[in-house]
Amino acid sequence: MSWPIDVGILGVELVFPSLFVDQTELEQFDGVSAGKYTIGLGQDRMGFCTDREDINSLCLTVVSKLLKRYELKPKDIGRLEVGTETIIDKSKSVKSVLMELFEPHGVTDLEGIDTTNACYGGTAALFNAINWVESSSYDGRLALVVCGDIAVYAKGSARPTGGAGAIAMLIGPNAPLVLDRGVRSIYMKHAYDFYKPDLNSEYPTVDGKLSIQCYLSALDNCYRLYHQKYQRLHPKADIVGLNQFDALVFHTPYCKLVQKSLARISLNDFLLTTDVEKRKKLYPAFYEKFDTIKLEETYFDRDVEKIFMDYSKATFNQKTKPSLLLANQVGNMYTPSVYSGLVSLLISADGDVSKLNGKHIGVFSYGSGLASTMYSISVTNDSAKLQSLLNNLSYVKPLLEQRTKISPEEFTTLMETRAHNSHRTNYEPSGDVSTLFPGTYYLKFVDEMHRRTYEKRE
Ligand code: ACO
Repeated sequence: MSWPIDVGILGVELVFPSLFVDQTELEQFDGVSAGKYTIGLGQDRMGFCTDREDINSLCLTVVSKLLKRYELKPKDIGRLEVGTETIIDKSKSVKSVLMELFEPHGVTDLEGIDTTNACYGGTAALFNAINWVESSSYDGRLALVVCGDIAVYAKGSARPTGGAGAIAMLIGPNAPLVLDRGVRSIYMKHAYDFYKPDLNSEYPTVDGKLSIQCYLSALDNCYRLYHQKYQRLHPKADIVGLNQFDALVFHTPYCKLVQKSLARISLNDFLLTTDVEKRKKLYPAFYEKFDTIKLEETYFDRDVEKIFMDYSKATFNQKTKPSLLLANQVGNMYTPSVYSGLVSLLISADGDVSKLNGKHIGVFSYGSGLASTMYSISVTNDSAKLQSLLNNLSYVKPLLEQRTKISPEEFTTLMETRAHNSHRTNYEPSGDVSTLFPGTYYLKFVDEMHRRTYEKRE
């Protein structure tokens, strides 16, 4: 077997809830000022699941759909792992539940298990899979990375930043989306910005302001390290900073934070431009104004934020806005969020590979607590390979429009039902199975020993 080259993402499958609540209606229902969720946070719709769906069912759905769409047999997969922060059975992994799709085909030689750290677990799982394909453990089969979460918050200011979904990524050599080597930049730290200490509840404990500060500081650190590593690898490259990317996708708690993040990168570029003449040329309007600022004092500095938001607006519209469709329409999916950004970017090409061929995509992944990474993806120039990836995602936009809108009143009742029943036994969920998309797995029953059984809506 030859050494695998161009290791990366061969295929992607996405599932999101069939139900959504409209954020304008939620603003009215919650009694907040009009525009707070839609303009202030940049969110239009929020997907959510009834008690019929849990993390196991979401992941069963996405894996079974990927295998079918890509015409794969269970024996074609040699590694399968899950990144999630939606924990049900604590010691028992979601991966072990997914074995239900493999065991009946005699496939039990399947490496990989669950990885957890808030919204970062999916990226850790992706790196494990990439490393496996590039390692001496690789046996020629493909890897599957599954990211899934149900993001629900208690009533209050964080609730409109919820969402849910799952993404499965097929990993192997000769991929249309290749993960660049030698530039992955990591920033990890101990912080209590968002965590789930109450094991009886699906709701996190959140320090909203701290979580934003942690996110932005992780971005600063990852970006600067990426920048250093990139320069080390390409000492003669004259394109540094934002210019080196054709697109940037981010973990998206809510869309407005991502626009601020792009502005943050342009602030970093400004500070990294130490040559005075160059700075004057690139930033004529304010090259002297921010000469002495310290990054860590600017997280909530309105003046700095406004100037760099304005300065980077065109770049944001061109390089990042196309990646926000799913985040805006479904909300924060936690681990899949950053990969929903990648899917949104891919489907923004409307099947036209020439819009993506040869492009360089920057990726920022963040999980509270905290773990973060910036890495990059090179898109192949092989149009046929890319076309098949894009064709396999053509269902996403039409499916978004096939969802059912639920009133904020009913949404709140369904959230209460979910919260009330999340750890019940001898329990059959009450959520309406007929509203689920065909091919969706759902929770049938939880018995007296907390054992869960699932069925599929055909
Ligand atoms: N029209 C337009 N904009 C408005 C309006 C209005 N009527 N009302 C408020 N806004 C703006 C505010 O000015 C603010 O904008 P800014 O961010 O530029 O200052 C924005 O809307 C949000 O309003 P806030 O009052 O700041 O919101 P609040 O503090 O109530 O909650 C928060 C926001 C902290 C993000 C909350 O939703 C939360 O805790 N979410 C979960 C944590 C989270 O997502 N953290 C991000 C990283 S960690 C992770 O991924 C889980």
